[in-house]
Amino acid sequence: MAKTYLISGAGSGIGRAIAQQLSKNGHNCILLGRNAAKLKQTLNTLSPGDHAVFTVDITDKLRLSAVAYQLRDKVIDGLIANAGIGGENYWGDDDRWHTIIETNLTGTYNFVNTFLPLLQKAANEKHVLIISSVLARLGVANYSAYCASKAGLLGLMRSWAVQYAPQKILVNAICPGWVDTEMSQQGLQGIADGIGITKDEFYDIAMQSVPLKRMSQPEEIAGLVAYLLSQSAITGQTIDINGGAIMNS
Ligand SMILES: NC(=O)c1ccc[n+]([C@@H]2O[C@H](COP(=O)([O-])OP(=O)(O)OC[C@H]3O[C@@H](n4cnc5c(N)ncnc54)[C@H](OP(=O)(O)O)[C@@H]3O)[C@@H](O)[C@H]2O)c1
Repeated sequence: MAKTYLISGAGSGIGRAIAQQLSKNGHNCILLGRNAAKLKQTLNTLSPGDHAVFTVDITDKLRLSAVAYQLRDKVIDGLIANAGIGGENYWGDDDRWHTIIETNLTGTYNFVNTFLPLLQKAANEKHVLIISSVLARLGVANYSAYCASKAGLLGLMRSWAVQYAPQKILVNAICPGWVDTEMSQQGLQGIADGIGITKDEFYDIAMQSVPLKRMSQPEEIAGLVAYLLSQSAITGQTIDINGGAIMNS
């Protein structure tokens, strides 16, 4: 049966791949992001369905509420909190700490809470999926805000998993390692610049700590998302997908 999923950050990278996968599986996708042109590009690649696009910044609670009002007659089966920003932050006047925390952590909190009433209308199991990061689990120099925001998402996920289990809302997080998207390419370039080598040289260094010796593709993260949305027994979990870069026991 066709379900309806709300995906933040659907205009590129992992979010776009998730929308493509879910539409291919026969579901309807509501695409959220700040950039209308990017969302439209995603929309044009989807398999046929009752899809929609809304421009919204997840740090803007008023705009989120306005979108929720427009969607008030919909029943949502899953919220995929994927939107996020990356990069370094440094203490000082230009510190990106607040921007990164406001987007990745508070933005996810805003996104899920705003659309929760639409999710609660669905009859059977429903899902909240949060895209965290391998950097929730390990440290990278000068990525304090990103690491803290992504680790914070795991706390958020666990609290919500307990809170909403009685309503049959399953809440899980995915921690991808390197995924081949614009964000990771910028990350590679930024770190390479910082240590005075080329992006390709840093890519080789980065892949030394990945047993599979490659980045994941956005479609591989999307496949995991589709699986988690299809099941009704896993909740409160963090699922790693990182080519073996870290192995939890
Ligand atoms: N690529 C990796 O290696 C990797 C690894 C681990 C985790 N992740 C996580 O995976 C998620 C997707 O990243 P990606 O690699 O696909 O990068 P991406 O292509 O840059 O996608 C991030 C998306 O988030 C949206 N976004 C950013 N700030 C927003 C805001 N304030 N409000 C609404 N939308 C916002 C952006 O769209 P607009 O500009 O249109 O708003 C963009 O489409 C992120 O949470 C990222 O941290 C990525």
